[in-house]
Amino acid sequence: MTAKVNTIINGDCIEEMEKIETNSIDLIFADPPYNLQLKNDLYRPNQTKVNGVFDNWDKFESMQKYDDFSEKWLRQCKRILKDDATIWLIGSYHNIFRLGVILQNLGFWILNDIIWIKTNPMPNFMGTRFNNAHETLIWASKNKNSKFTFHYKAMKCFNDDLQMRSDWYIPICNGQERLKTNGQKAHSTQKPEELLFRIILASSNAGDLILDPFSGTGTTASVAKKLGRNYIGIEKESSYISISNERLQNITPIEKSLLEYQIEKPIPKVPFGNLIEKNIILIGDFLFSKDKKFKAQVLSDASIVCNNEAGSIHKVSAKIQGKSNNNGWTFWSIERDNQLVTIDSLRQEYANKYLNKF
Ligand SMILES: C[S@@+](CC[C@H](N)C(=O)[O-])C[C@H]1O[C@@H](n2cnc3c(N)ncnc32)[C@H](O)[C@@H]1O
Repeated sequence: MTAKVNTIINGDCIEEMEKIETNSIDLIFADPPYNLQLKNDLYRPNQTKVNGVFDNWDKFESMQKYDDFSEKWLRQCKRILKDDATIWLIGSYHNIFRLGVILQNLGFWILNDIIWIKTNPMPNFMGTRFNNAHETLIWASKNKNSKFTFHYKAMKCFNDDLQMRSDWYIPICNGQERLKTNGQKAHSTQKPEELLFRIILASSNAGDLILDPFSGTGTTASVAKKLGRNYIGIEKESSYISISNERLQNITPIEKSLLEYQIEKPIPKVPFGNLIEKNIILIGDFLFSKDKKFKAQVLSDASIVCNNEAGSIHKVSAKIQGKSNNNGWTFWSIERDNQLVTIDSLRQEYANKYLNKF
């Protein structure tokens, strides 16, 4: 790797990406110029000036120039991403559609678009259009057949056991998190860490290398560092580099063991008979359905009998419910300290103790 890992490089992203090895990056998050084409200052009805995006870095002579620029940096992204890597782009209606076309023309494969719904958007001060209350993120893999990282189970757990949806309600960056210089916003478009937290958690692993070619205040790098990922940021404005470095210095990475996706580890293969051999369940013990409607007795050969049906924990649970198959581990419970516990939890106990897998 030629580029310095865990640094923010001061330079032009196309030139700097050219120096990065082919197939070396696990994840890219890119928040490029919006090309808002704002010409005049914007004022609120009370004549106070709106702190919009009037920065030079957002100015392009024409749509064509913006497209040419976008094509160049996205081409570099494609080259340096690993085959199974993914890219996230964020933008507004001004640029996201143009970026989407270029992305597809370069052979990336769009996996999702996410709508970031701003819970506290800036109003439409002129009252001439709908309040623009969201930005769009495109998540794409390098190729159609990439075996990309997606922590489905973790994201579901994150969302209270409901599938994580593509509409994310997150406030814009405000309060303590908003970096200031001389009392003014240090950057006009600093993104909320919450957004990056979700992205990095969902689509990368601890130890991965994450690149942000438009690093700004170093939001991606900061969240990456916190979550035990490596990062490279590229930013052409040197004033933002010092802000980022200061920000990064105050971040302590989370302890490694807390970054594991335990929830995704495969369930250990433990036959029911092993629990009997180890006296975790005894011959003659009774198993119950959760509502206690069914009661089965454990025999010496690890079969169970319930309502004159004999067989494995799975077969008997299926038969008594009139099903063709059923998971006996989660169906049956046993009494422990006057409470019912699933035999699945005893299986975990066995695996922890004897298989040393957890
Ligand atoms: C939309 S902002 C990114 C903000 C960032 N996500 C954050 O949370 O702070 C885009 C950034 O890209 C930088 N930039 C624009 N053109 C660039 C280029 N060609 N190479 C590197 N950085 C560039 C700008 O200076 C600006 O800070």
